[in-house]
Amino acid sequence: MRHIKDVNLKGKRVLLRVDFNVPTDGNGNITDDTRIRKSLPTMQKLIGDGARTILITHLGRPKGEFDEKYSLKNVAKRISEIIGREVIFTQSLLGEEVTDMVNNMKDSDVMLLENIRFYKGETGGDMEFAKELAKLGDAYVNNAFGTVHRNHASVSLLAGLFPNDHYFGFLMEREVENLSYLLGNPKHPFTAIIGGSKISGKIDVLDNLIPKVDNMIIGGGMRYTFTKALGGKIGNSLHEDDKLGVALDLVDKMKKHNVNLYLPIDCIVIDDFRNDANCQLVKGDEIPDGWEAVDCGPKSIELFREVILKSQTILWNGPMGVFEMPNFAKGTFGVARAVAEATQNGAFSVAGGGDSISALQQLDMMDKMSFVSTGGGAMLEFLSGIELPGLKYMK
Ligand code: 3PG
Repeated sequence: MRHIKDVNLKGKRVLLRVDFNVPTDGNGNITDDTRIRKSLPTMQKLIGDGARTILITHLGRPKGEFDEKYSLKNVAKRISEIIGREVIFTQSLLGEEVTDMVNNMKDSDVMLLENIRFYKGETGGDMEFAKELAKLGDAYVNNAFGTVHRNHASVSLLAGLFPNDHYFGFLMEREVENLSYLLGNPKHPFTAIIGGSKISGKIDVLDNLIPKVDNMIIGGGMRYTFTKALGGKIGNSLHEDDKLGVALDLVDKMKKHNVNLYLPIDCIVIDDFRNDANCQLVKGDEIPDGWEAVDCGPKSIELFREVILKSQTILWNGPMGVFEMPNFAKGTFGVARAVAEATQNGAFSVAGGGDSISALQQLDMMDKMSFVSTGGGAMLEFLSGIELPGLKYMK
């Protein structure tokens, strides 16, 4: 793996692909700058070496043309505050004006190009577009782990256009190392805790993890597809009827690999989708008609805690309930606390996914995990074991 820590790129124009796809409020103000901060070591290394850093990122999903709502103007300001120096911001990506601005850069200057998704060539994975971009730089650094699963020009093609001058940034290296550990030879018992609303986006991950884990805890909305497939009563709870067969196949595979499957044994159900709706505690597979499950109950939280505390390796992705509603956050917070406790006792833990991160932030527990991945979809696809477009040429 080529890494920027092994080289000094002084004087070189470095195209640094980052994932600064940060959440914003309706007015374009950044509400969480974690993804920018996570790239600080890489930016500092390049600035310290005297490289001329040209940052490339996307924000949101604009439709291949300029859209004020997705401009990186505020991102440029925030980067500037975080690195403590001016960031040159270009209103476009290609063309004479940008080329002149790049040619006028001095050592250690930092530039941010406007949202790369304002160009159709990016999401289209267009080689001609990639070649135009490549003309702006002498080297390419990929630190955009969150986007590594996209077959987009600046993610999957640029590395190949700099065959001898492409490098991993620090964040990319840490993500790949920590997630690879889970798929390689992790310490046992290994427990995966998978939650979230739907099974559909997580089938490949579950399938790939089953031969590697000892325990699989499945919570959140996706567990009701399993419960229904196994013959339980789920009332009005979220589920995917077209995935019942898949759920059964996964359960069979778990049996074959001697994986202990833990589904919530009790849960909180409500009669209306509101934080202050009427609620009751029922058995996990006996949810009455007209009621919807929104969190796991105290016995499940205790059971999960016991399993988690006996684990040496822990992966957590996805909430255990509708934790955005404060009354139904106990399951998710309970898991977060148990993983933190296990980590303090010496287990290796990896958490990821936007909701798990948000829960950890609410609990002020981000630093209580061994590693928190910045990738949502990217983390899941990595753990599915498939070759990711952004890593293909990064050898
Ligand atoms: C993310 O936030 O998951 C990445 O930035 C990728 O964004 P995308 O799902 O719009 O490709």
